[in-house]
Amino acid sequence: AIYTYVDKETCIACGACGAAAPDVYDYDDEGLSYVMLDNNNGTATVPEEYEDDVYDAYEGCPTDSIKISSNAFYKAMK
Ligand code: F3S
Repeated sequence: AIYTYVDKETCIACGACGAAAPDVYDYDDEGLSYVMLDNNNGTATVPEEYEDDVYDAYEGCPTDSIKISSNAFYKAMK
């Protein structure tokens, strides 16, 4: 299982992640990306059928703002 969240401090609202993984990433009012699954907490397991999309988003983000781990993220880790 994998977990993901977006570092909104470095996201530049480029829009690549939502194109790569439209079922996982959406954009807030400022166009910054967040994970829909858990309101960007990084604590929800990515459904298996979306894992490849998440890896594509990870590779495509120009600012390395897409974070992926095999463990759930906790606030202290971010
Ligand atoms: Fe932001 Fe990277 Fe997505 S810059 S909009 S997290 S591809």
